[in-house]
Amino acid sequence: MADFPELNRETGEIWDRNADYWDERMGEGNFFQSTLIEPAQLRLLALQPGEQVLDIACGNGQFARKMASLGARVVASDVSQRMVELARSRTDGTDADVEYHVADATDETQLLALASEKSQKFDAVVCTMALMDIASIDPLISAAIRLLKPGGRFVFSVMHPCFNSGDGLTRSVDREELDGQAVERGYVKVFQYGKSHTHKGEAMLGQPVAQNYFPRSFSTLLGAFFQRGFVIDGMEEPLLPEKPPFERSHFEAAYANIPPALVARMRLPSGA
Ligand SMILES: C[S@@+](CC[C@H](N)C(=O)[O-])C[C@H]1O[C@@H](n2cnc3c(N)ncnc32)[C@H](O)[C@@H]1O
Repeated sequence: MADFPELNRETGEIWDRNADYWDERMGEGNFFQSTLIEPAQLRLLALQPGEQVLDIACGNGQFARKMASLGARVVASDVSQRMVELARSRTDGTDADVEYHVADATDETQLLALASEKSQKFDAVVCTMALMDIASIDPLISAAIRLLKPGGRFVFSVMHPCFNSGDGLTRSVDREELDGQAVERGYVKVFQYGKSHTHKGEAMLGQPVAQNYFPRSFSTLLGAFFQRGFVIDGMEEPLLPEKPPFERSHFEAAYANIPPALVARMRLPSGA
Protein backbone atom coordinates (compact mmCIF):
# COMPACT_ATOMS: atom_id res chain seq x y z
CA MET A 1 0.00 0.00 0.00
CA ALA A 2 1.36 3.44 -0.95
CA ASP A 3 2.15 5.96 1.80
CA PHE A 4 -0.31 8.40 0.19
CA PRO A 5 -3.05 6.20 -1.39
CA GLU A 6 -5.16 9.09 -2.68
CA LEU A 7 -2.19 10.96 -4.17
CA ASN A 8 -0.88 7.69 -5.61
CA ARG A 9 -4.14 7.05 -7.47
CA GLU A 10 -4.09 10.63 -8.73
CA THR A 11 -0.44 10.24 -9.83
CA GLY A 12 -1.35 7.59 -12.42
CA GLU A 13 -4.16 9.76 -13.81
CA ILE A 14 -1.90 12.82 -14.00
CA TRP A 15 0.79 10.94 -15.91
CA ASP A 16 -1.83 9.61 -18.33
CA ARG A 17 -2.83 13.22 -19.04
CA ASN A 18 0.80 14.34 -19.41
CA ALA A 19 1.99 11.32 -21.41
CA ASP A 20 1.67 12.70 -24.95
CA TYR A 21 3.31 16.00 -23.98
CA TRP A 22 6.13 14.12 -22.23
CA ASP A 23 6.64 11.75 -25.16
CA GLU A 24 6.87 14.60 -27.70
CA ARG A 25 9.55 16.36 -25.66
CA MET A 26 11.49 13.35 -24.41
CA GLY A 27 11.51 11.51 -27.74
CA GLU A 28 14.58 9.29 -27.78
CA GLY A 29 16.28 11.49 -25.15
CA ASN A 30 16.01 15.25 -24.47
CA PHE A 31 19.05 17.40 -23.63
CA PHE A 32 18.96 16.70 -19.86
CA GLN A 33 18.56 12.97 -20.38
CA SER A 34 21.16 12.57 -23.14
CA THR A 35 23.78 14.88 -21.63
CA LEU A 36 23.51 14.03 -17.97
CA ILE A 37 21.47 11.03 -17.02
CA GLU A 38 21.98 8.46 -19.74
CA PRO A 39 25.81 8.50 -19.79
CA ALA A 40 26.03 8.21 -15.97
CA GLN A 41 23.43 5.44 -15.82
CA LEU A 42 25.13 3.48 -18.59
CA ARG A 43 28.51 3.78 -16.85
CA LEU A 44 27.07 2.54 -13.55
CA LEU A 45 25.06 -0.22 -15.20
CA ALA A 46 27.99 -1.53 -17.29
CA LEU A 47 25.56 -3.71 -19.24
CA GLN A 48 26.68 -6.99 -20.75
CA PRO A 49 24.94 -8.28 -23.91
CA GLY A 50 22.16 -10.72 -23.07
CA GLU A 51 21.59 -9.39 -19.56
CA GLN A 52 18.02 -9.18 -18.35
CA VAL A 53 16.96 -5.79 -17.04
CA LEU A 54 13.77 -4.56 -15.41
CA ASP A 55 13.05 -0.86 -16.08
CA ILE A 56 10.56 0.58 -13.56
CA ALA A 57 8.57 3.77 -14.34
CA CYS A 58 9.91 3.63 -17.89
CA GLY A 59 7.88 6.55 -19.27
CA ASN A 60 7.93 6.45 -23.07
CA GLY A 61 10.54 3.69 -22.92
CA GLN A 62 13.49 5.77 -24.15
CA PHE A 63 16.06 4.24 -21.78
CA ALA A 64 14.58 0.74 -22.15
CA ARG A 65 15.17 0.93 -25.90
CA LYS A 66 18.67 2.30 -25.33
CA MET A 67 19.52 -0.70 -23.13
CA ALA A 68 17.99 -3.08 -25.68
CA SER A 69 20.12 -1.49 -28.41
CA LEU A 70 23.14 -2.45 -26.30
CA GLY A 71 22.05 -6.07 -26.26
CA ALA A 72 20.00 -6.25 -23.04
CA ARG A 73 16.66 -8.05 -22.81
CA VAL A 74 14.38 -5.56 -21.14
CA VAL A 75 11.08 -5.77 -19.30
CA ALA A 76 9.76 -2.22 -18.79
CA SER A 77 6.75 -0.98 -16.84
CA ASP A 78 4.95 2.21 -15.91
CA VAL A 79 1.81 3.06 -13.96
CA SER A 80 0.47 5.12 -16.87
CA GLN A 81 -1.40 3.11 -19.50
CA ARG A 82 -0.90 5.94 -22.01
CA MET A 83 2.87 6.06 -21.41
CA VAL A 84 3.04 2.32 -22.05
CA GLU A 85 1.01 2.69 -25.27
CA LEU A 86 3.40 5.40 -26.47
CA ALA A 87 6.43 3.30 -25.48
CA ARG A 88 5.05 0.35 -27.45
CA SER A 89 4.29 2.49 -30.50
CA ARG A 90 7.88 3.80 -30.51
CA THR A 91 9.21 0.24 -30.24
CA ASP A 92 6.96 -1.56 -32.76
CA GLY A 93 8.81 -2.46 -35.92
CA THR A 94 12.28 -2.03 -34.37
CA ASP A 95 14.61 -4.81 -33.25
CA ALA A 96 14.50 -3.61 -29.64
CA ASP A 97 14.01 -6.52 -27.24
CA VAL A 98 11.60 -4.77 -24.87
CA GLU A 99 8.42 -6.10 -23.30
CA TYR A 100 6.15 -3.43 -21.76
CA HIS A 101 3.61 -3.75 -18.95
CA VAL A 102 1.41 -1.44 -16.92
CA ALA A 103 2.36 -1.81 -13.24
CA ASP A 104 2.14 0.37 -10.16
CA ALA A 105 5.55 0.47 -8.50
CA THR A 106 3.94 0.99 -5.08
CA ASP A 107 2.32 -2.46 -5.36
CA GLU A 108 4.76 -5.28 -4.62
CA THR A 109 2.43 -7.95 -6.05
CA GLN A 110 2.21 -6.16 -9.40
CA LEU A 111 5.99 -5.82 -9.48
CA LEU A 112 6.61 -9.48 -8.71
CA ALA A 113 4.24 -10.41 -11.56
CA LEU A 114 6.71 -8.78 -13.97
CA ALA A 115 8.96 -11.82 -13.59
CA SER A 116 7.60 -13.99 -16.39
CA GLU A 117 8.71 -17.47 -17.43
CA LYS A 118 11.27 -15.78 -19.70
CA SER A 119 12.76 -13.55 -17.03
CA GLN A 120 12.54 -15.23 -13.67
CA LYS A 121 15.37 -13.15 -12.22
CA PHE A 122 16.98 -9.95 -13.46
CA ASP A 123 20.64 -8.92 -13.60
CA ALA A 124 19.64 -5.30 -12.98
CA VAL A 125 16.71 -3.11 -12.02
CA VAL A 126 16.70 0.44 -13.38
CA CYS A 127 14.58 3.43 -12.36
CA THR A 128 15.34 6.61 -14.32
CA MET A 129 14.38 9.98 -12.79
CA ALA A 130 11.26 8.59 -11.17
CA LEU A 131 11.74 7.61 -7.50
CA MET A 132 10.77 11.17 -6.47
CA ASP A 133 7.52 10.72 -8.45
CA ILE A 134 6.61 7.47 -6.70
CA ALA A 135 4.46 7.77 -3.58
CA SER A 136 6.16 4.95 -1.70
CA ILE A 137 9.46 3.29 -2.64
CA ASP A 138 9.57 0.55 0.00
CA PRO A 139 7.46 -1.94 -2.05
CA LEU A 140 9.76 -1.48 -5.05
CA ILE A 141 12.92 -2.06 -3.02
CA SER A 142 11.41 -5.14 -1.34
CA ALA A 143 10.31 -6.51 -4.72
CA ALA A 144 13.77 -5.84 -6.18
CA ILE A 145 15.32 -8.18 -3.59
CA ARG A 146 13.18 -11.01 -4.95
CA LEU A 147 13.47 -10.00 -8.61
CA LEU A 148 17.25 -9.62 -8.74
CA LYS A 149 19.82 -12.38 -9.12
CA PRO A 150 22.33 -12.66 -6.25
CA GLY A 151 24.76 -9.76 -6.61
CA GLY A 152 22.24 -7.96 -8.83
CA ARG A 153 22.30 -4.18 -9.14
CA PHE A 154 19.66 -1.48 -8.82
CA VAL A 155 20.67 1.65 -10.72
CA PHE A 156 18.58 4.77 -10.31
CA SER A 157 18.68 8.50 -11.00
CA VAL A 158 16.70 11.14 -9.13
CA MET A 159 16.50 14.89 -8.89
CA HIS A 160 19.34 15.59 -6.46
CA PRO A 161 17.89 15.20 -2.92
CA CYS A 162 19.92 18.18 -1.60
CA PHE A 163 20.18 20.61 -4.50
CA ASN A 164 17.23 20.01 -6.81
CA SER A 165 14.53 18.44 -4.74
CA GLY A 166 11.08 19.69 -4.07
CA ASP A 167 9.75 23.09 -3.25
CA GLY A 168 12.36 23.84 -0.57
CA LEU A 169 14.77 25.84 -2.73
CA THR A 170 15.11 28.80 -5.10
CA ARG A 171 17.54 29.35 -7.96
CA SER A 172 19.05 32.64 -8.98
CA VAL A 173 21.82 34.17 -11.04
CA ASP A 174 23.94 36.94 -9.55
CA ARG A 175 26.41 39.18 -11.35
CA GLU A 176 29.48 39.56 -9.17
CA GLU A 177 32.96 40.91 -9.43
CA LEU A 178 35.88 38.51 -9.28
CA ASP A 179 39.45 39.88 -9.69
CA GLY A 180 38.04 42.98 -11.37
CA GLN A 181 35.97 40.94 -13.81
CA ALA A 182 32.19 40.76 -13.88
CA VAL A 183 31.11 37.12 -13.54
CA GLU A 184 27.70 35.51 -13.59
CA ARG A 185 27.14 32.87 -10.93
CA GLY A 186 24.19 30.53 -10.56
CA TYR A 187 22.99 29.80 -7.01
CA VAL A 188 20.74 27.28 -5.34
CA LYS A 189 19.36 28.56 -2.05
CA VAL A 190 17.95 25.74 0.10
CA PHE A 191 15.47 26.80 2.78
CA GLN A 192 13.85 23.45 3.59
CA TYR A 193 15.33 19.97 3.60
CA GLY A 194 14.40 16.61 5.01
CA LYS A 195 10.87 17.44 6.11
CA SER A 196 8.53 14.71 4.87
CA HIS A 197 5.93 16.30 2.60
CA THR A 198 4.47 16.19 -0.92
CA HIS A 199 3.99 18.96 -3.43
CA LYS A 200 2.94 19.60 -7.01
CA GLY A 201 5.38 20.56 -9.77
CA GLU A 202 6.37 20.16 -13.40
CA ALA A 203 8.83 17.60 -14.76
CA MET A 204 8.49 19.08 -18.25
CA LEU A 205 7.97 22.84 -18.42
CA GLY A 206 4.45 23.70 -19.63
CA GLN A 207 3.03 20.18 -19.16
CA PRO A 208 -0.78 20.00 -19.10
CA VAL A 209 -1.16 19.04 -15.40
CA ALA A 210 1.18 19.56 -12.43
CA GLN A 211 2.29 16.21 -11.02
CA ASN A 212 2.80 14.98 -7.48
CA TYR A 213 6.31 14.96 -6.05
CA PHE A 214 7.39 12.94 -3.03
CA PRO A 215 10.79 14.42 -2.13
CA ARG A 216 13.07 12.43 0.19
CA SER A 217 16.25 13.47 1.94
CA PHE A 218 19.52 11.77 1.01
CA SER A 219 19.46 9.61 4.15
CA THR A 220 15.78 8.65 3.74
CA LEU A 221 16.34 7.67 0.12
CA LEU A 222 19.50 5.62 0.63
CA GLY A 223 18.33 4.41 4.04
CA ALA A 224 15.33 2.70 2.41
CA PHE A 225 17.83 0.55 0.45
CA PHE A 226 20.26 0.02 3.35
CA GLN A 227 17.45 -1.20 5.62
CA ARG A 228 16.72 -4.00 3.15
CA GLY A 229 20.33 -5.13 2.75
CA PHE A 230 21.46 -3.19 -0.32
CA VAL A 231 24.85 -1.49 -0.30
CA ILE A 232 25.89 1.43 -2.47
CA ASP A 233 28.88 0.72 -4.70
CA GLY A 234 28.72 3.46 -7.33
CA MET A 235 27.52 7.05 -7.47
CA GLU A 236 27.73 10.03 -9.82
CA GLU A 237 26.62 13.65 -9.51
CA PRO A 238 26.79 14.87 -13.13
CA LEU A 239 26.88 18.57 -14.01
CA LEU A 240 25.35 20.44 -16.94
CA PRO A 241 27.80 21.96 -19.43
CA GLU A 242 28.87 25.60 -18.83
CA LYS A 243 27.68 26.48 -22.33
CA PRO A 244 24.58 24.54 -23.40
CA PRO A 245 23.55 24.82 -27.06
CA PHE A 246 20.70 27.22 -26.13
CA GLU A 247 20.30 30.31 -23.96
CA ARG A 248 20.96 29.46 -20.27
CA SER A 249 18.15 29.95 -17.78
CA HIS A 250 18.68 30.09 -13.99
CA PHE A 251 18.39 26.32 -14.07
CA GLU A 252 21.34 25.74 -16.42
CA ALA A 253 23.39 28.48 -14.72
CA ALA A 254 22.98 26.88 -11.30
CA TYR A 255 23.50 23.31 -12.38
CA ALA A 256 26.71 23.85 -14.31
CA ASN A 257 28.49 23.85 -10.91
CA ILE A 258 26.02 22.16 -8.55
CA PRO A 259 24.65 18.70 -9.43
CA PRO A 260 20.96 18.64 -10.44
CA ALA A 261 20.77 14.85 -10.28
CA LEU A 262 22.09 11.95 -8.29
CA VAL A 263 22.77 8.65 -10.06
CA ALA A 264 23.50 5.66 -7.85
CA ARG A 265 24.16 1.95 -8.05
CA MET A 266 22.85 -0.14 -5.18
CA ARG A 267 23.84 -3.78 -5.00
CA LEU A 268 22.62 -6.88 -3.24
CA PRO A 269 25.60 -8.64 -1.69
CA SER A 270 26.07 -12.04 -3.42
CA GLY A 271 24.97 -13.93 -0.33
CA ALA A 272 21.74 -11.95 0.05
C1 LIG B 1 9.79 11.84 -14.77
S1 LIG B 1 9.02 10.51 -15.57
C2 LIG B 1 10.42 9.49 -15.99
C3 LIG B 1 10.09 8.52 -17.09
C4 LIG B 1 11.28 7.72 -17.62
N1 LIG B 1 11.87 6.87 -16.62
C5 LIG B 1 12.30 8.63 -18.22
O1 LIG B 1 13.35 8.87 -17.61
O2 LIG B 1 12.07 9.15 -19.33
C6 LIG B 1 8.32 9.65 -14.19
C7 LIG B 1 7.56 8.40 -14.57
O3 LIG B 1 7.19 7.75 -13.35
C8 LIG B 1 5.96 7.10 -13.57
N2 LIG B 1 5.36 6.78 -12.27
C9 LIG B 1 4.94 7.62 -11.30
N3 LIG B 1 4.43 6.93 -10.26
C10 LIG B 1 4.54 5.62 -10.59
C11 LIG B 1 4.18 4.41 -9.95
N4 LIG B 1 3.59 4.40 -8.75
N5 LIG B 1 4.44 3.24 -10.57
C12 LIG B 1 5.03 3.21 -11.80
N6 LIG B 1 5.36 4.34 -12.48
C13 LIG B 1 5.13 5.52 -11.88
C14 LIG B 1 5.17 8.11 -14.39
O4 LIG B 1 4.08 7.54 -15.05
C15 LIG B 1 6.27 8.61 -15.34
O5 LIG B 1 6.30 7.87 -16.53
